[in-house]
Amino acid sequence: MLSLVVLISGGGSNLLALLEASEDAQFPARVVAVGADREADGLEHAERFGVPTFSVALSNFPDRDDWGKELLEQIEEWNPDLVILSGFMRLLPPRVVAALSPRLLNTHPAYLPEFPGAHAVRDALAAGASETGASIIVVDDGVDTGPVVAQERVPVAPGDTENALHERIKVVERRLLVQTVLDIANGHINLEDYA
Ligand code: GRF
Repeated sequence: MLSLVVLISGGGSNLLALLEASEDAQFPARVVAVGADREADGLEHAERFGVPTFSVALSNFPDRDDWGKELLEQIEEWNPDLVILSGFMRLLPPRVVAALSPRLLNTHPAYLPEFPGAHAVRDALAAGASETGASIIVVDDGVDTGPVVAQERVPVAPGDTENALHERIKVVERRLLVQTVLDIANGHINLEDYA
Protein backbone atom coordinates (compact mmCIF):
# COMPACT_ATOMS: atom_id res chain seq x y z
CA MET A 1 0.00 0.00 0.00
CA LEU A 2 1.47 3.33 -1.13
CA SER A 3 1.23 6.09 1.50
CA LEU A 4 0.67 9.64 0.27
CA VAL A 5 1.09 13.07 1.81
CA VAL A 6 -0.76 15.69 -0.25
CA LEU A 7 0.07 19.42 0.00
CA ILE A 8 -2.57 21.98 -0.99
CA SER A 9 -3.20 25.72 -0.93
CA GLY A 10 -6.75 25.91 -2.29
CA GLY A 11 -9.99 24.04 -2.82
CA GLY A 12 -8.39 20.61 -3.05
CA SER A 13 -10.49 18.95 -5.75
CA ASN A 14 -7.47 16.88 -6.82
CA LEU A 15 -7.01 15.87 -3.19
CA LEU A 16 -10.70 14.91 -3.05
CA ALA A 17 -10.26 12.68 -6.10
CA LEU A 18 -7.46 10.82 -4.31
CA LEU A 19 -9.49 10.54 -1.09
CA GLU A 20 -12.44 9.15 -3.02
CA ALA A 21 -10.25 6.71 -4.94
CA SER A 22 -8.81 5.50 -1.61
CA GLU A 23 -12.27 4.52 -0.43
CA ASP A 24 -12.06 1.57 -2.81
CA ALA A 25 -10.34 -1.24 -0.91
CA GLN A 26 -8.71 -2.30 -4.21
CA PHE A 27 -7.01 1.09 -4.70
CA PRO A 28 -3.37 0.54 -3.69
CA ALA A 29 -2.70 3.96 -2.10
CA ARG A 30 -3.91 5.92 0.93
CA VAL A 31 -3.64 9.59 1.85
CA VAL A 32 -2.02 9.49 5.31
CA ALA A 33 -1.87 13.28 5.86
CA VAL A 34 -2.69 16.56 4.14
CA GLY A 35 -0.54 19.66 4.59
CA ALA A 36 -1.17 23.28 3.63
CA ASP A 37 0.65 26.60 3.70
CA ARG A 38 -2.52 28.51 4.63
CA GLU A 39 -6.12 28.05 5.77
CA ALA A 40 -6.92 26.15 2.59
CA ASP A 41 -10.57 25.24 2.00
CA GLY A 42 -9.51 21.79 0.84
CA LEU A 43 -8.42 20.84 4.37
CA GLU A 44 -12.13 20.22 5.01
CA HIS A 45 -12.03 17.29 2.59
CA ALA A 46 -9.27 15.69 4.64
CA GLU A 47 -11.16 16.25 7.88
CA ARG A 48 -14.32 14.75 6.41
CA PHE A 49 -12.38 11.63 5.43
CA GLY A 50 -10.72 11.46 8.88
CA VAL A 51 -7.27 12.20 7.45
CA PRO A 52 -4.93 14.23 9.71
CA THR A 53 -3.88 17.69 8.55
CA PHE A 54 -1.04 20.08 9.27
CA SER A 55 -0.45 23.68 8.33
CA VAL A 56 2.89 25.47 7.96
CA ALA A 57 2.52 29.15 7.01
CA LEU A 58 5.54 30.89 5.48
CA SER A 59 4.69 34.07 7.42
CA ASN A 60 5.46 32.30 10.72
CA PHE A 61 9.13 31.81 9.77
CA PRO A 62 12.03 34.24 9.33
CA ASP A 63 12.83 32.89 5.84
CA ARG A 64 11.86 30.30 3.24
CA ASP A 65 14.59 27.91 4.28
CA ASP A 66 13.35 27.72 7.89
CA TRP A 67 9.80 27.33 6.59
CA GLY A 68 10.94 24.49 4.34
CA LYS A 69 12.73 22.78 7.23
CA GLU A 70 9.57 22.73 9.32
CA LEU A 71 7.43 21.64 6.36
CA LEU A 72 9.82 18.77 5.65
CA GLU A 73 9.76 17.67 9.28
CA GLN A 74 5.97 17.61 9.25
CA ILE A 75 5.94 15.63 5.99
CA GLU A 76 8.56 13.13 7.14
CA GLU A 77 6.67 12.44 10.34
CA TRP A 78 4.27 10.48 8.12
CA ASN A 79 7.04 8.59 6.35
CA PRO A 80 5.20 8.79 3.00
CA ASP A 81 6.13 6.81 -0.11
CA LEU A 82 5.03 9.75 -2.23
CA VAL A 83 4.39 13.48 -1.71
CA ILE A 84 1.95 15.20 -4.06
CA LEU A 85 1.77 18.95 -4.60
CA SER A 86 -1.78 19.47 -5.70
CA GLY A 87 -2.56 23.14 -6.10
CA PHE A 88 0.23 23.96 -3.62
CA MET A 89 1.04 27.51 -4.65
CA ARG A 90 4.55 27.90 -3.23
CA LEU A 91 7.95 26.90 -4.51
CA LEU A 92 9.65 24.43 -2.21
CA PRO A 93 13.17 25.34 -1.04
CA PRO A 94 15.95 23.20 -2.60
CA ARG A 95 16.53 21.24 0.62
CA VAL A 96 12.93 19.98 0.54
CA VAL A 97 13.13 19.05 -3.14
CA ALA A 98 16.46 17.28 -2.60
CA ALA A 99 15.06 15.29 0.32
CA LEU A 100 11.91 14.11 -1.46
CA SER A 101 12.45 14.06 -5.24
CA PRO A 102 11.77 11.92 -7.29
CA ARG A 103 9.06 10.83 -4.83
CA LEU A 104 7.65 14.36 -5.18
CA LEU A 105 4.98 15.03 -7.82
CA ASN A 106 3.24 18.19 -8.95
CA THR A 107 0.01 18.51 -10.93
CA HIS A 108 -0.14 21.33 -13.46
CA PRO A 109 -3.00 22.67 -15.61
CA ALA A 110 -1.10 22.80 -18.93
CA TYR A 111 0.73 20.51 -21.32
CA LEU A 112 4.26 21.14 -20.02
CA PRO A 113 6.71 22.46 -21.08
CA GLU A 114 4.01 24.75 -22.51
CA PHE A 115 2.70 27.39 -20.09
CA PRO A 116 4.63 26.81 -16.83
CA GLY A 117 3.97 29.00 -13.78
CA ALA A 118 1.05 30.10 -11.65
CA HIS A 119 -1.16 31.40 -14.50
CA ALA A 120 -0.99 28.51 -16.93
CA VAL A 121 -4.64 28.63 -17.98
CA ARG A 122 -4.69 32.41 -18.44
CA ASP A 123 -1.42 32.22 -20.41
CA ALA A 124 -2.79 29.53 -22.73
CA LEU A 125 -5.86 31.68 -23.48
CA ALA A 126 -3.73 34.83 -23.95
CA ALA A 127 -1.51 32.95 -26.41
CA GLY A 128 -4.57 31.96 -28.46
CA ALA A 129 -3.71 28.26 -28.08
CA SER A 130 -6.20 25.85 -29.65
CA GLU A 131 -5.33 23.20 -27.10
CA THR A 132 -3.66 23.01 -23.72
CA GLY A 133 -3.68 20.16 -21.23
CA ALA A 134 -2.80 18.71 -17.85
CA SER A 135 0.52 17.31 -16.66
CA ILE A 136 1.92 15.36 -13.74
CA ILE A 137 5.62 16.00 -13.23
CA VAL A 138 8.41 15.08 -10.84
CA VAL A 139 9.38 18.28 -9.00
CA ASP A 140 12.87 19.67 -9.52
CA ASP A 141 14.32 23.03 -8.49
CA GLY A 142 12.76 24.95 -11.39
CA VAL A 143 9.24 26.26 -11.89
CA ASP A 144 7.34 23.38 -13.53
CA THR A 145 10.52 22.17 -15.28
CA GLY A 146 10.73 18.62 -13.89
CA PRO A 147 10.34 15.48 -16.01
CA VAL A 148 6.82 14.75 -17.21
CA VAL A 149 5.37 11.50 -15.84
CA ALA A 150 1.94 11.75 -17.48
CA GLN A 151 0.05 14.32 -19.53
CA GLU A 152 -3.02 14.71 -21.68
CA ARG A 153 -4.30 17.31 -24.12
CA VAL A 154 -7.44 19.38 -23.46
CA PRO A 155 -8.92 21.42 -26.35
CA VAL A 156 -9.66 25.12 -25.85
CA ALA A 157 -13.31 25.82 -26.74
CA PRO A 158 -14.41 28.98 -28.58
CA GLY A 159 -15.31 31.68 -26.02
CA ASP A 160 -13.67 29.81 -23.15
CA THR A 161 -13.17 31.83 -19.97
CA GLU A 162 -10.21 31.11 -17.72
CA ASN A 163 -12.52 29.54 -15.17
CA ALA A 164 -14.43 27.35 -17.64
CA LEU A 165 -11.24 26.09 -19.26
CA HIS A 166 -9.58 25.46 -15.90
CA GLU A 167 -12.56 23.44 -14.69
CA ARG A 168 -12.41 21.26 -17.84
CA ILE A 169 -8.65 20.82 -17.42
CA LYS A 170 -9.14 19.85 -13.78
CA VAL A 171 -11.49 17.01 -14.75
CA VAL A 172 -8.60 15.56 -16.80
CA GLU A 173 -6.01 16.48 -14.16
CA ARG A 174 -7.85 14.56 -11.43
CA ARG A 175 -8.19 11.45 -13.57
CA LEU A 176 -4.53 11.65 -14.60
CA LEU A 177 -3.42 12.05 -10.98
CA VAL A 178 -5.40 9.06 -9.72
CA GLN A 179 -4.17 6.94 -12.66
CA THR A 180 -0.55 8.02 -12.08
CA VAL A 181 -0.70 7.08 -8.39
CA LEU A 182 -2.17 3.72 -9.42
CA ASP A 183 0.59 3.19 -12.01
CA ILE A 184 3.28 4.01 -9.45
CA ALA A 185 1.72 1.69 -6.88
CA ASN A 186 1.48 -1.23 -9.28
CA GLY A 187 4.96 -0.68 -10.70
CA HIS A 188 3.97 0.46 -14.21
CA ILE A 189 5.72 3.74 -13.46
CA ASN A 190 9.07 3.68 -11.68
CA LEU A 191 9.87 7.17 -10.36
CA GLU A 192 13.58 6.32 -10.14
CA ASP A 193 13.53 6.49 -13.98
CA TYR A 194 12.73 10.20 -13.59
CA ALA A 195 15.46 10.99 -11.02
C1 GRF B 1 -5.01 22.67 -10.25
O1 GRF B 1 -5.32 22.94 -11.58
C2 GRF B 1 -3.51 22.68 -10.03
O2 GRF B 1 -2.79 22.08 -11.05
C3 GRF B 1 -3.27 24.15 -10.01
O3 GRF B 1 -4.28 24.65 -9.18
C4 GRF B 1 -5.42 23.80 -9.32
C5 GRF B 1 -5.78 23.32 -7.94
O4 GRF B 1 -7.04 22.73 -7.94
N1 GRF B 1 -1.94 24.47 -9.60
P1 GRF B 1 -7.62 22.01 -6.64
O5 GRF B 1 -7.22 22.84 -5.42
O6 GRF B 1 -7.04 20.62 -6.60
O7 GRF B 1 -9.10 22.01 -6.86
